[in-house]
Amino acid sequence: MFSFFKKKKTSQESLLAEAPKKQRPTFNALKVSNIKRETADCVSVAFEIPETLRENYRFVQGQYLTFKKAINGEEIRRSYSICSSPLEGELRVAIKKVPEGRFSTYANESLKEGDVLETMTPEGNFFRTLSPKATNTYVAFAAGSGITPIMSIVKTTLEVEPNSKFILFYGNKSSKSIIFKEEIEDLKDAFLNRFEVHHVLSREDQGTDSLKGRIDGEKCKLFASNFFDIEEVSTFYLCGPEEMILSVKDTLIDLGAPKENVLFELFTTPVAAAASANEKATKQVVTADKNAKSDVTVILDGDETHFQVTYGGNTVLDAALDAGADVPFACKGAVCCTCRAKVLEGTVEMDMNYALEEDELEAGYVLTCQSHPTSERVVISFDE
Ligand code: FES
Repeated sequence: MFSFFKKKKTSQESLLAEAPKKQRPTFNALKVSNIKRETADCVSVAFEIPETLRENYRFVQGQYLTFKKAINGEEIRRSYSICSSPLEGELRVAIKKVPEGRFSTYANESLKEGDVLETMTPEGNFFRTLSPKATNTYVAFAAGSGITPIMSIVKTTLEVEPNSKFILFYGNKSSKSIIFKEEIEDLKDAFLNRFEVHHVLSREDQGTDSLKGRIDGEKCKLFASNFFDIEEVSTFYLCGPEEMILSVKDTLIDLGAPKENVLFELFTTPVAAAASANEKATKQVVTADKNAKSDVTVILDGDETHFQVTYGGNTVLDAALDAGADVPFACKGAVCCTCRAKVLEGTVEMDMNYALEEDELEAGYVLTCQSHPTSERVVISFDE
């Protein structure tokens, strides 16, 4: 057990959380302990965690961190998946520079070891609980920096479940843009019979048509007939651009995979998601009674904040921030789930939801960054 992480044995279990207890996310100043250049436009960044914050930064494979930083006078928040395994005793994220990405450019070009970043406690539901007794087959589809949470999931799964197998399909432009290329090779050597990797390259010939191009529904069908038996796969993990996720997810379900076995992490830029949410909110203004107002109460750490919102106006989250409540959020795009809260009274309608599961919706949880009141009085708690 823990063969791949032998060198770091002393601290390897210190960040492992078996089943994360839902705690309210908080920001803390963490010192950057190491920066590693992974590709020409991607760095991975590790953090030093003070003893007093160890409990708060325990994480599960597949979770992410959100950073808060003032850049050119504006506070921005960005989330990045953790690429390390909790068994490694290290908290590390990968940050790929995106065109005009203010935080990703800062991280790739200016961030130094020893700098301090305001870092939110780990969040996210992109994982399955593992068991050393299980004999499972897992399949992951990743594209570009979508590999980040998958790396954490692959490493942890292969260590914790010695009888399970993992098959990874990883899409990139060329072999030069493959993030974690060496680490993936090392994993293949360490888990020779249990880890299989197929690189799919869009701008490089690998001598076979099936591995040329982008990962999409068609490729997924081809891989399902050649590399895995859909009925034997216990969980599919999908992470990459929305287009890839949707086409692979639909194809897997068409091929017979139960919907609940297909987990995905949307890779939507906060800007794109927010723009889409705004568009929907604007439509709602047209259909709702613009003058109708709702009295909203938000509960956070036992304190109540009261304010009014018009039905088609601000989201509950924005209105609560305007009213001075320090409510948690990250993407504002229905993806990250950081703004999750429970409706105790009244009703709201969400513009989008890529983060909450069916059972959470049934229990009354909503994404406040997407929620507009639809009743005269609404009470929402962040403490539940
Ligand atoms: S802030 Fe990310 S889902 Fe609401």
